[in-house]
Amino acid sequence: MKTSGGSDAAKRRAGESAAETVDDGDVVGLGTGSTAAHAIRAIGRSVDGGLDVRGVPTSFASRELARACGIPLAEPDDVVGPDDDGIDLAIDGADRIADGDLIKGGGAAHAREKLVDAAADRFLVVADPSKETETLDRPVPVEVLPSARRVVSEAVSALGGGDVSSARGEATLRRAKRKDGPVVTDNGNLVLDCAFGSIDDPDALATALSTTPGVVEHGLFVGVADEIHVGTADGVRVARPSRD
Ligand code: A5P
Repeated sequence: MKTSGGSDAAKRRAGESAAETVDDGDVVGLGTGSTAAHAIRAIGRSVDGGLDVRGVPTSFASRELARACGIPLAEPDDVVGPDDDGIDLAIDGADRIADGDLIKGGGAAHAREKLVDAAADRFLVVADPSKETETLDRPVPVEVLPSARRVVSEAVSALGGGDVSSARGEATLRRAKRKDGPVVTDNGNLVLDCAFGSIDDPDALATALSTTPGVVEHGLFVGVADEIHVGTADGVRVARPSRD
């Protein structure tokens, strides 16, 4: 489920603001979606100008774009080890932002996004104002093993979740738009969009989903954002969520 709304100009300001913080020598996690794409293009322009970075893409789409922008690429496993310092920063979008916590996965890339974003020394979220809400209130994308769709759906019901229209019954299998059948993730799995209404305790729900067998990854990103760059009509607001 992609979120709609938000002007492209606001997304561009947010993406470019985060890209400005990239330093020479950095390893940068490259997020997925239309806002992160602006950051990737800005980093590509800096690479053209001589910036020395390596990008760690979070999806097929971000890899393709980064390659087209001339950004040298690496996999997560290439940048850890005795001679490497890991990922310096990651720049990624979000579908909802409330009190520094996020729902991601509108592009079904959240498994790899969480791997890269959580591993980074600094995680910068880029968004337009339409993503900001009081509480996390949109369905949570859950990537599941193809054989575990119904098993996970039952577990989601037991946690108080359900389909996207009523938050009851079976969680909604994400369907492809220009292919018969379901969305298949970059990892070969399926996505269930699971509505829980307004999520008052994201931490507890994130833990419950993470410990459900058959769940590969869910789109709740709790306590991982270091900076949130929100593009506005005429500038950028930067917030630094407190972590206590
Ligand atoms: C990809 O799976 C998502 O987590 C995206 O980061 C999210 O959907 C934000 O995308 P936009 O920047 O296009 O709104």
